[in-house]
Amino acid sequence: MKLFSTRIAALFLVSIMMVACRGQKSEKPPILPQQNMSFQERFNAQQENPFFEDGMAMRLPVEGTVARGGLRHDMALFEGTDEDGNYIAENPIELTESFLYRGKDRYDIFCSMCHGGTGDGRGIIMTGEYGYVPAPTFHSDRSREMPDGEFYSAIANGIRSMPAYSGQITVEDRWAIVAYIRALQESQFILEDELERYDVDIAELQQLYLDEQAREEALAEARAVTDDEEVSVERGERLYTRYACHTCHSLDGTRLVGPTFAGLYMSEREMTDGSVITADEEYLIQAIVDPRAFTNVGYDDVMMPYDYLSDGELQSLVEFIKAQSDN
Ligand code: HEC
Ligand code: HEC
Repeated sequence: MKLFSTRIAALFLVSIMMVACRGQKSEKPPILPQQNMSFQERFNAQQENPFFEDGMAMRLPVEGTVARGGLRHDMALFEGTDEDGNYIAENPIELTESFLYRGKDRYDIFCSMCHGGTGDGRGIIMTGEYGYVPAPTFHSDRSREMPDGEFYSAIANGIRSMPAYSGQITVEDRWAIVAYIRALQESQFILEDELERYDVDIAELQQLYLDEQAREEALAEARAVTDDEEVSVERGERLYTRYACHTCHSLDGTRLVGPTFAGLYMSEREMTDGSVITADEEYLIQAIVDPRAFTNVGYDDVMMPYDYLSDGELQSLVEFIKAQSDN
């Protein structure tokens, strides 16, 4: 009997406890019999602390601290170069179909408006209304021979007048874009003897190409005729900034990417092929429209052809350059 009543009492106690712990929230402060650990002295964010020499309570990480996952020791992956700083030839990330499609996706978003959907350098900025430095084509021998690392670096660090995209595009995505540009280049380039393996008419292809070229020339001509033909130094000055000539040519004699315009007109220009040319009007026009024809000694052949300018624009630029020799 004694045993039985003890059991009843125990059962009663357990059921009371279970009722008490049904997991509801309570607004009342918890009962803390031992409070030592709950209330301790501390500093708030941004608070002063005279203990440290700089008086700040918030401490900076020890110099050289690397955030978890932030160790960028892999030069090839993060910089596109080897230990000596030379561009690496090949993409360090393994090529897969999904990687390539990721590259296409990113390319279309970040590069196509300037470099064109097919990489031919005829993106929407080239319509003339936007006045940006023309973006080069990726279908030149020069571009085809560039190592993968150089493309990566152009995205990560920018190149001359093109801004860097490191803020918008992650390391992996940059390499995906590089892979996609390589695919674009392949898609537009085939050697004649390779072509012979396929069942196509080479003559017909060449004719298609020539037709396309003629069509574009006619378009450019039509556009030049309809452009207003005002020629003035002031217009030239506006175009000098609008077409970003100022990013490479100074007016005060400073050497930038290209030679200064100060005193350029009628000066003797030394070319890499050994010739010396007087910078008359004809030369200036050629230097703007077809800059690859000659290269000044001591400069890189990096200026993109401004072959889409109207006559009025070209002549105004020339007048503006001439005006830089007047004083
Ligand atoms: C706002 C227009 C613009 C965008 C967007 C742009 N570029 Fe460029 N890019 C340029 C211009 C302009 C140049 C030429 C720079 C110069 O020579 O001053 C250039 C040059 C380059 C070059 C060097 C080419 C050479 O022949 O030296 C590479 C490579 C390149 N861009 C890759 C890219 C990639 C990849 C993207 C997308 C992530 C991109 N660009 C986005 C305008 C752009
Ligand atoms: C990306 C940089 C860049 C931009 C932008 C640029 N140029 Fe150039 N330009 C050069 C370089 C580099 C040279 C020298 C190499 C050469 O002779 O091809 C040059 C050469 C020239 C020359 C011949 C100068 C000489 O000393 O013989 C003329 C004229 C010229 N540029 C005009 C222009 C005009 C006009 C614009 C704008 C519509 C322009 N450039 C935009 C880089 C640039």
